[in-house]
Amino acid sequence: MIKSSVWHPNTQMKEWDSFDEIIQAKGMWLIDSAGNKMLDGVSSMWCNVWGHSKKELVNAIVKQSKKLQHSSMFNLTNKPAELLAKKLVEISPGMNKVFYSDNGSSSMEIALKIALQYQNNIGEKQKSKIATLENGYHGDTFGAMSVGYVPQFFGKFKKQLFSTIQIPVPNKYRVPKGFTYPDYQNFCLDKIEQQFSKDNKIAAFIMESGAQVAGGVVIYPKGFQKKISQICKQYNVLFVLDEIATGFGRLGSMVQYTEQKSIPDIVSYGKMLTGGYLTMAATLTNKKIYDSFLGNFNEWKHLFHGHTYTGNPIAASVALENLKLYQKNNLIKKIKNTSKIFEKYYDIISKLDLVGDIRHKGMLMGIELVTDKKKKTPIHPKKSINKIFFEEGKKHGIYLRTLGNIVMLVPPLAISENDLKLLLNRTVQTIKSAKKQVI
Ligand SMILES: Cc1ncc(COP(=O)(O)O)c(C=O)c1O
Repeated sequence: MIKSSVWHPNTQMKEWDSFDEIIQAKGMWLIDSAGNKMLDGVSSMWCNVWGHSKKELVNAIVKQSKKLQHSSMFNLTNKPAELLAKKLVEISPGMNKVFYSDNGSSSMEIALKIALQYQNNIGEKQKSKIATLENGYHGDTFGAMSVGYVPQFFGKFKKQLFSTIQIPVPNKYRVPKGFTYPDYQNFCLDKIEQQFSKDNKIAAFIMESGAQVAGGVVIYPKGFQKKISQICKQYNVLFVLDEIATGFGRLGSMVQYTEQKSIPDIVSYGKMLTGGYLTMAATLTNKKIYDSFLGNFNEWKHLFHGHTYTGNPIAASVALENLKLYQKNNLIKKIKNTSKIFEKYYDIISKLDLVGDIRHKGMLMGIELVTDKKKKTPIHPKKSINKIFFEEGKKHGIYLRTLGNIVMLVPPLAISENDLKLLLNRTVQTIKSAKKQVI
């Protein structure tokens, strides 16, 4: 344990006077300076694909860093970034061009800017509003906070954020009184249609693809996302998807929007793009959008956006190697099998005292903790739930990071069936042993 000089993310620093120092990681295991091992139950914030220290990925980084570490995309280009852009377009039906950034939040800022400027470029200047789903999350920068507004996190900046049109989202576990789940789905979809039909100023609809993750693992019902994409088309509203946490196999498909049969105009990838080794994100658009940015220089139609490290060749090289490994190891097929292990634990987990609901798809599981199963009252201990579960998890040799009252299981995608069983067994033990601290 060391006293940290770092201001840690999303952390009440008064609560954490010291931190475990991770000095090495191998496969699924994080190893601290005292030699303790923890199974990485959240794939180092939902991004690790193959486990740590994967030889092929490390070699790709070493090889590229000996040749070209970084050169600007301003006036120049580099081979790894070019090859990766081609690959990303290949795996993303309907997409045509790739704009690089360093993290998911930035890639969503870029998606927003592209969507708004597109409307401007084609002479639809009045189209300047953004519609979103309630409870969505798209990152921590100002545009991302505006479109993924979580009052508890971002309420202190409300005055500075731009307003959006928010549409309710169907959460099977918390359907409002008076509705059945299917009725509520239709109610949400009708709301979108009502909004779009009475307001011709909406530029784009932005949502996470397949499920809301940070919003508490809300998995969309079948056909929900497809229907939204159809309504967007009908009313000429751009359909923008965030696949940062849900794409690249997390929910069981390489590209989640193909499974959802809902081709977007713009999509963002991040997190698992580099296998979880280096920081890189990408915003892809279709040809219609890209073409609207073309013109004479003095028409000022080009996109005013660019980060210092955009298209970094080392990050692009490791992303390319990562994609190669997906194919070579048939990872998506493997995920479909490994994912079944989660299902085998539904019964055991749902019978635990604190567990109100389990939501699972692919390699993502959210376990919602309540004090009263009937009333569905979220647990609300004095100390942060995260700290309690982190410490209890550590005693059982697993690394956990909860989200509010939800225990998140988001392991590296290539985790073996045995390691996943270990994670699930230890999570059950952790929920049991944490009980006395949270009630
Ligand atoms: C759906 C989604 N979008 C955007 C982001 C932001 O990505 P980053 O943390 O890389 O900025 C996240 C991060 O968790 C996310 O889950």
